[in-house]
Amino acid sequence: MDRNYDLIRQAEEMFKKYKDVVNEDEYRLHFHLMPPVGLLNDPNGFIQWQGRYHLFYQWNPFQTAHGAKFWGHYSSSNLVDWRKEKIALAPSEWYEKNGCYSGSAVEDNGILKLLYTGNVKDEYGNRETYQCLAESENGVDFIKKGVVLRLPEGYSAHFRDPKVWKRNEKWFMVIGAQTKQLEGRAVLFASNNLEDWTLIGDVAGTNLNGLQNFGYMWECPDLFRLGDNDILLVSPQGLQRTGMLYQNVYNTGYFIGTLDYETGKLEHGNFQELDRGFEFYAPQTTVDEKGRRLLFGWMGVPEQDEDLHPTISHHWIHAMTIPRELKLVNGQIYQNPVEELKKLRRNKVSKNNAIVHEEKKTFASFEGTAYELLINIHEIKAEAFEIILKDSVWIIYNKKECVFTLERKSMKTGEPEIRQCKLSNLSIIQIFVDTSSIEIFLNDGQEVFTSRMFPSVKNPNITFGSYHGKVLCSIQKWDLHQQ
Ligand code: FRU
Repeated sequence: MDRNYDLIRQAEEMFKKYKDVVNEDEYRLHFHLMPPVGLLNDPNGFIQWQGRYHLFYQWNPFQTAHGAKFWGHYSSSNLVDWRKEKIALAPSEWYEKNGCYSGSAVEDNGILKLLYTGNVKDEYGNRETYQCLAESENGVDFIKKGVVLRLPEGYSAHFRDPKVWKRNEKWFMVIGAQTKQLEGRAVLFASNNLEDWTLIGDVAGTNLNGLQNFGYMWECPDLFRLGDNDILLVSPQGLQRTGMLYQNVYNTGYFIGTLDYETGKLEHGNFQELDRGFEFYAPQTTVDEKGRRLLFGWMGVPEQDEDLHPTISHHWIHAMTIPRELKLVNGQIYQNPVEELKKLRRNKVSKNNAIVHEEKKTFASFEGTAYELLINIHEIKAEAFEIILKDSVWIIYNKKECVFTLERKSMKTGEPEIRQCKLSNLSIIQIFVDTSSIEIFLNDGQEVFTSRMFPSVKNPNITFGSYHGKVLCSIQKWDLHQQ
């Protein structure tokens, strides 16, 4: 039987077999994209094509563990209501037999084209990597065109995740790589037809441009214009924890600079972490018809307690973040939830000029399971301000020390664990809580904390507290759900 057909049929069978078990999980999210069954990781091929948004994702339908990935597919007219589409890619060919790994989508003369990595491993675990092309005329049925780029000299087989864009009628592609000396790199290629690619050079990486000890492998690079700058967004593996930075097993951040398209080199400033939460990795952006730079991230981190997620007993794991819009403000990327998410708002409650004074208190009707909480802080005349959700997630702003903290119970030990950032002032806290996730946007997107959480879903509590003084704020809350 045709291998592609067979794999797709097997994946669909998994979906049918576990559909009810998956949907019965109380931790199933209400307004996030999830795998129908099995494991989801990176967002792939994010594009607005012929008016419609398409988001593909790394997907193992057979297990709640990593493996030979498929490309699952969702589409939407408004970034809020998503439709599950047919499986886009299955790892059926020799050049991708161990996974259709991450990649991106472009529009070329009306055709939707996917560039992705074919991952191959032999019986001894030796890896091969191929950059591949697939095309679709209708946006849902893809025809594979095979390998368009083989591994160049000087790099190990950890060479993957092509992100492609067009500039002045020419195609460019950045790939995540590791040199033979085990240095993480992003590498630039150019092409006139998406099929014949020429290596231009290394964009950035360990031992380039003054960067030392900056990871042994760079995954999922993305290169785009924001304002008057070129941004390299990338997920380096092998960063050392330093202070409040790089606390997760693998981390994601960006460089702001200017790309020289002749040499491929990015003149850049410091690496800045994009998200400060426990679960965030391998984001991908696209620019839509409104000219917005939009981002989806994976709400997970490879090898970080993945086997401890309670959703595994319901045969699924991981989810995407909510879609965000990026802006550059004072040399920093600000991320905000896309405006369209307001469409999910239901049952508004508000409390103007609320006072929290050396106490822990709740406000009538401020509770829920899937909601948006918007807090405008008028004045903090206290050492610290605190919000406790579901009696198990603590959000604390220590004004005295200018430190913001997210605290939860470790999935491994049950002990408290924290993620933090420095924040010299706090005026707005916008929180998106879903049944098992939290995304916190501070000061209109200046800092973001994305995390999964697995408290008792039925616990609806939202508690406010202040220490050594009082806090004056106005609070709004909406339940969030699809119509
Ligand atoms: C990042 C990553 C990519 C790879 C994909 C495989 O999470 O490791 O580098 O293409 O996941 O699923």
